[in-house]
Amino acid sequence: MLSGTQLTGGPELLRFEGLLAEISARSHAVALSSGTSALELALWALDIGTGDKVMITAFGFPAAANIVAARGAIPIAVDVEEARWCVDFDKARSLAESENTGGGIKALVTIDQLGAVTSAGDIEAFERETGISVLSDAACGLGGTDKDGRPAGSAGTMATFSFHPRKVVTTGEGGAVVCSDLEIVERLRQIRNHGQAGGGRFARIGTNARIAEVPCAIGCAQIARLEAMQAERRMLVEGYKERLSELRASGAISWQQSCGVEVHANQSFAILLTDSSKREPLLSGLRDMNIGCGVATYSFTEIGIHNANADCPVASRLHRAAVSLPLYLGMRSSELSRVCEAVRELL
Ligand SMILES: Cc1ncc(COP(=O)(O)O)c(C=O)c1O
Repeated sequence: MLSGTQLTGGPELLRFEGLLAEISARSHAVALSSGTSALELALWALDIGTGDKVMITAFGFPAAANIVAARGAIPIAVDVEEARWCVDFDKARSLAESENTGGGIKALVTIDQLGAVTSAGDIEAFERETGISVLSDAACGLGGTDKDGRPAGSAGTMATFSFHPRKVVTTGEGGAVVCSDLEIVERLRQIRNHGQAGGGRFARIGTNARIAEVPCAIGCAQIARLEAMQAERRMLVEGYKERLSELRASGAISWQQSCGVEVHANQSFAILLTDSSKREPLLSGLRDMNIGCGVATYSFTEIGIHNANADCPVASRLHRAAVSLPLYLGMRSSELSRVCEAVRELL
């Protein structure tokens, strides 16, 4: 790759996009500069802007809520299911009906929570029944499959990925939209490159959301190792579950449940504390032992920057009581045991 002459928009981009389309069972992928730009361009390509209402899964990194608000649209929080921490489609349906009377909802953003892949069948049924487009934020889902064995990113009008270093596949910074509608794909490609349509023609307003050749080459190399990386992540998470099973049986903690033949992408492993008042002492105790940990992720209804007065009790509880434990390639069994010993001691 380094002997080539093109630094952006060259063969590595095409190769990376081909691989992304293949693993998400789509006809096309548009690789971009970040997962957030993927969400932004997905909204942009659907003409979602000022005053439009977008339902967003409440629990999950608030990139979607932020970018919806940044486009002048209105984020509406939808709660998550107790078991899998992914969007609760029943709640999304009733919200769609009540909000629709006030002027219509343009889209629903689902989130593959910490690597749990949202059901493709449920996404498709929701789009069919409501006429609302689903944008599937699969930033954490790459490499996983849903309860029917369908890959992350395979459903919804568009799905997005992030290649930030905390993701399963990383390019340093990067993202992508996958989509099978050629007209939308064309729009995304133009918006990515200042609205240019080739031959010196500007077809629309756009931006620079391009990704360079070097990160694309890194992404291709990462995807070639995806199966092995996934196997290692799975082994680590199984190690956590085995070592923490007694604590779970005692009722002190729980974790995300799987469904059907689902393969969790294990972007993160998080425990949910039954007693949320124990979270801060647990986090600071682990940090004192030099164990990297953090809150699992956020509910955008709780972070204080969105005017989201929605009632999302499950997301709010997860926001307050879930803890993410260290999970990285190369983590040793002795390190796993040390983390679990510390968690048991501190709880
Ligand atoms: C669920 C989710 N969506 C979107 C993003 C944004 O991705 P990026 O950091 O590549 O912009 C993240 C990143 O943390 C994420 O976890």
